[in-house]
Amino acid sequence: MIPQSTIRLILETAQIEEVVGEFVQLRKRGSNFVGSCPFHDEKTPSFSVSATKGIYKCFGCGKAGNSVNFIMEHEHYTYPEALRYLAKKYNIPIQEEEPAPEDTEKAGELESLYNVHAFARDYFVKILHETEDGKALALSYLKEREFRPSVIEKFQLGFCLPAWEGFTLHAREKGYNEDILIKSGLSIKKDNRTYDRFRARVIFPIHNLTGRVIGFGGRILTSGQNLPKYVNSPETEIYNKSKVLYGLYFSRSEIASAGNCYLVEGYTDVISLYQAGIRNVVASSGTSLTQDQIRMIRRYAPTITILYDGDEAGLKASFRGIDLILEQGMNVKIVMFPDGEDPDSFVRKNRLSDVEEFLNKERKDFLEFKTAILLKESGGDPVRKATVIREIVQSIALIPDAITRSVYIKECSAKMDVAEQTLINELNKRLREKFRKLIKSEGDTYVPEFRDPLVEQQQEIDITDTEYQEKDIVRIMLLYGDRDIFFENADESGLHKEKIAVNVATFIVDDLVSDGIMIKNPVYVKIFKLFTDYLEENKKPPSFEYFRDHPDIIISKTSADITNTPYEISPHWEDWRRIRTSAEWDRMRELVVNEVLGLKSKRVLMQLENLQKELQGTENEDAQLMILEKIREMKRISIQINDQLSRVITH
Ligand code: UTP
Ligand code: MN
Repeated sequence: MIPQSTIRLILETAQIEEVVGEFVQLRKRGSNFVGSCPFHDEKTPSFSVSATKGIYKCFGCGKAGNSVNFIMEHEHYTYPEALRYLAKKYNIPIQEEEPAPEDTEKAGELESLYNVHAFARDYFVKILHETEDGKALALSYLKEREFRPSVIEKFQLGFCLPAWEGFTLHAREKGYNEDILIKSGLSIKKDNRTYDRFRARVIFPIHNLTGRVIGFGGRILTSGQNLPKYVNSPETEIYNKSKVLYGLYFSRSEIASAGNCYLVEGYTDVISLYQAGIRNVVASSGTSLTQDQIRMIRRYAPTITILYDGDEAGLKASFRGIDLILEQGMNVKIVMFPDGEDPDSFVRKNRLSDVEEFLNKERKDFLEFKTAILLKESGGDPVRKATVIREIVQSIALIPDAITRSVYIKECSAKMDVAEQTLINELNKRLREKFRKLIKSEGDTYVPEFRDPLVEQQQEIDITDTEYQEKDIVRIMLLYGDRDIFFENADESGLHKEKIAVNVATFIVDDLVSDGIMIKNPVYVKIFKLFTDYLEENKKPPSFEYFRDHPDIIISKTSADITNTPYEISPHWEDWRRIRTSAEWDRMRELVVNEVLGLKSKRVLMQLENLQKELQGTENEDAQLMILEKIREMKRISIQINDQLSRVITH
């Protein structure tokens, strides 16, 4: 228990910019610091730290708090763990005091859960090494599986005796009450009998990131008893299965230095690979992979390589895993093992150098992997091939980064022998759906309700960058969105030309959305969303009156306001019809293209700047290569945009 006075001292001493600065590269901006948010994926830094207020706040994901909150959130620490971390950082001695029972009941309960797990782990380890049954039944089994003593010790493997209540009785004797034994899941109460959950099983302790044991997996020794192969701890207040990865405590530094994390299915796969020297490995044991688990890995490396046995169930699971990983903006690779092998058995049968060669040779990019499997399933049937393409584009649409998406679209086009434009159209459809969902879930919170000066300042900074371009694009959409502009499309021979009509709103929405460019100003976002709603249902875009008379007063006022600055004449906004027949309309096609390119060009420059900074901020070679690749692509896009711009202007 940390005394209140010490907590206060820690809070007063900890400098928010120093605490955060250890994990996030911060730049000074005015009286604040800014950087890229460590809690979500972002391209423009929206993570702000106020040294004077002692708080951090992310304008992208909304996470905010003080030094202690930051450490808790970032390191997955409990409150006392975060305080201890800060105390250590600032050399503040902690004199623990006995907890007062009333106000620390909760903390006390967590603590006693940790304690009973530590106690159980020590007990199971002792049983494995120091009892006849342990040695004869379990240790011999582990040796048979070729687990070396050093690894058995490192992973703290143990054994629970076959006697029904060996552990339970021992724990009761040592003063652990029945309540906590049942709550932890170590004991089970049934028909007035309390017995060991893990009886007659080899024990695999599960660690959190501070190395404390928070749960167990227990493997049966012999097969064929009609019992489940593994029994696992239930979820408790300290064990949330979707937020734990087996092995991460041991492997995280190796994951960081490798820039890659191998993801396997089982406890024994982790241990075998680790023992063989492939130490950047974790398992999502007991549950299917979750977003939280992926985000945990993302803190250490940009790439996940899924290793799984090639059976049907594993295949389906891997497809789901691929999509989840892509969605988090990570790279995903897949290695399929030969039939009947899992990573554990494969590693035991082969030399390390052969295993490494196999992993490097067999690892497939997600696109390669998914196309190969799906195409094989479709057996050349063109209708089914179309379904395959749609399914793959759906995965690509999940990738948050526009450049990465376009790289994959190109690759997919080549692999599947489909025109790039066809894929882009399909992608745009998906992106629009995604965009709509995104705004639906965030739409109402976009407008800041409370006026935190930190918030206002940051938003100003963010918006002013492209505020002008955004405003003019929305103005054009409001005034002319429902009208058609015409483009000429020539076929490949250049002989046949056709005129294509697109309404202004569709052109703008598709063009921005397909490049992953979002409007930032919250009010414009609302208007933009109303347009996408209509387009989504294949309806004609609404005309200006719809916005002018909109029941949402922010929308009606803004519509009035921004259309009140027309190019040539300056009528009241009721006179908008006159604007529509103005000279501005005559050059609408050029204007629209120009405005959209202008916004893109500015955003690309901003992104380039961020990438350069990101490049300076990382020492991981894989990450550097990835950033360089993005910079190259960005520059290419930038040249392309400027090229198009100059053509529009001189047209
Ligand atoms: P596997 O059946 O692949 O087992 O389950 P394994 O890890 O290869 O174990 P060995 O090599 O046969 O000893 C993969 C993972 O699924 C969970 C466990 O986490 C296991 O490691 N599992 C499996 C259960 O939770 N319960 C079960 O009954 C089976
Ligand atoms: Mn196995």
